Amino acid sequence: MCGIAGYVGPREAVTVVFDQITRLEYRGYDSAGVAYKNGDGIKVLKRAGKLSNLKQLLDSEKPKAQMAIAHSRWATHGGPTDQNAHPHFDQHELIAVIHNGIIENYYELAQELKARGHTFKSETDTEIAAHVIGEEYEITGSLADAVRRGVKRLRGAFAMVAICKNEPDTLVAVRNASPLILGIGSGENFLASDIPALLPYTREVVVMEEGDLAVMTRDRIRLEDAQGKEKLIQPMHVDWNIESAEKGGFEHFMLKEIHEQPDAIRQCLSGRLLKDGGVQLLNCFSDEEWKSFERVVVIACGTAYHAGLMGKQMIESVLRVPVEVIYASEFRYNNPILRPADLVIVISQSGETIDTLVALKLAKEHRAKTLGIVNVVGSSIARECDEVLYIQAGPEICVASTKAYSAQVATLALVCLQMARKSAADQEKIFNLTRELQRLPNLMETCLERESQIAEIANQIHRAPLMFFLGRGADVAACMEGALKMKEIAYIPTQESPAGEMKHGPLALVESGVVAVFASTNPLTREKVISNIKEIKARGGTVAAIIFDSDEQTAHEADFVIRIPHVDSPPIGAALSVLPMQLLAYHVARLKGCEIDQPRNLAKSVTVE
Ligand code: AGP
Repeated sequence: MCGIAGYVGPREAVTVVFDQITRLEYRGYDSAGVAYKNGDGIKVLKRAGKLSNLKQLLDSEKPKAQMAIAHSRWATHGGPTDQNAHPHFDQHELIAVIHNGIIENYYELAQELKARGHTFKSETDTEIAAHVIGEEYEITGSLADAVRRGVKRLRGAFAMVAICKNEPDTLVAVRNASPLILGIGSGENFLASDIPALLPYTREVVVMEEGDLAVMTRDRIRLEDAQGKEKLIQPMHVDWNIESAEKGGFEHFMLKEIHEQPDAIRQCLSGRLLKDGGVQLLNCFSDEEWKSFERVVVIACGTAYHAGLMGKQMIESVLRVPVEVIYASEFRYNNPILRPADLVIVISQSGETIDTLVALKLAKEHRAKTLGIVNVVGSSIARECDEVLYIQAGPEICVASTKAYSAQVATLALVCLQMARKSAADQEKIFNLTRELQRLPNLMETCLERESQIAEIANQIHRAPLMFFLGRGADVAACMEGALKMKEIAYIPTQESPAGEMKHGPLALVESGVVAVFASTNPLTREKVISNIKEIKARGGTVAAIIFDSDEQTAHEADFVIRIPHVDSPPIGAALSVLPMQLLAYHVARLKGCEIDQPRNLAKSVTVE
């Protein structure tokens, strides 16, 4: 996620804000910049790449200022280039703006502004927002009023900070979903997108709430709510150490990223899944191209492969379009059968997995259309695909993928709904998939609220010598991912398969102490899963069942029950069941004293074959 920093006071402002965004480096970024009051104007210095590139520029410019803002950008709209880096100017270079998040209606605004003669230097939605605020400033002559009026024209999830040439001691900040925190000093004030950037300067902080707007000078902060009503400044004292602050107070990045999933899904769907249930995938295939696809081939590795399995469940059940999911490492050696009418979907969080990249290049030689579902903007796989849909999950630090998995599945659901527009697809299934996708962030929050129950179950089963992960239908895809989590961070051997396969061999492994985790989120297969649970229990195994709140039948058969809210779309229900599996694996690993964020033998991006 991008980093935001701001300062006004007696210190060397650019040095302060650069130090602040340095403390946010762990969040991941691909460009950075600063803006400061320079003589009678605003100066912007920015560079693509690492902070060291920007530092070289600052060292040569030697800025002197007592007010400055800084930004480290995680590219969403527009690749990581000098021009796309923040801050961005308005049309008259009076105002500089930095921004975290997504402006959903950037496209319509750009058309309006161009019609009024505006021209843009970057590909970003942020520059469009800066021009909107610039237009309002021409009317109001006040930066605070211009921001108040300007943000009312913006739709989306964002945090934004602006400074103005004519108001040399004032920063205006607004929070609308993405976090913004004020740091209260004496004769100086700070702001940042995360607490670690404030701690060296102050431990008195105010977390801005949804819709809040702050007008900050060195001696005063006016904080107002979304209706413009002034709010009392009530600082909170933060006694975290810096290291735990980088994890947002969580013990590990993995747990932080598990808890970030609701917001990651909101960001992923923002501007794409519309309030009326429609889908809008801008800068992707044309309607004719979407209509032309007769088969889908998914190529990926690891967790991304498991997301592809969930995508298969969606697309085949809703559209009746055949989907083949292939391990990238196998694709190139199996003399693949591809046709020009195939859509090849390449899934990769890092966008640099060499097995996947090589397979992608081979797929392109077969003249199939390629779509990337990628997290890292501008990555090799993103650049190589014909089209790309960024999952916008923000940087994923932990080697074990969690929020990227969920965002990959959500993006595949968008692809399914986009393709559904062409065919006589099952309207009831489309309705259910759409509605449950819209509910998914809230459904996830409900699951996260039950973490303590899952931690207690982990305490009961963490010594298991072997764990089965079993399900039927879409639940099998969920179990594949849950098993991978348990393997990679808790180092417990697992056997994951369709539950119906147990009697064809794996049942021989069941004995006292062995644990079987069942996911059962489809009423149509519930009876069969209960039979499979009984098979395990009859041979001394222990059963933990992940089931809907309403499912008493299965609860009666299991030793441990993990409840999730009822979901009417089997693939979404199955995908939701992965979240408790992530938490189960995390707490088992924690009880076993495992490393968790950097598991042995593994890398976050496997760039060797
Ligand atoms: C998942 O937890 C693992 N880190 C690993 O399986 C990963 O999913 C796989 O290496 C693919 O990585 P990618 O999504 O970056 O291509």
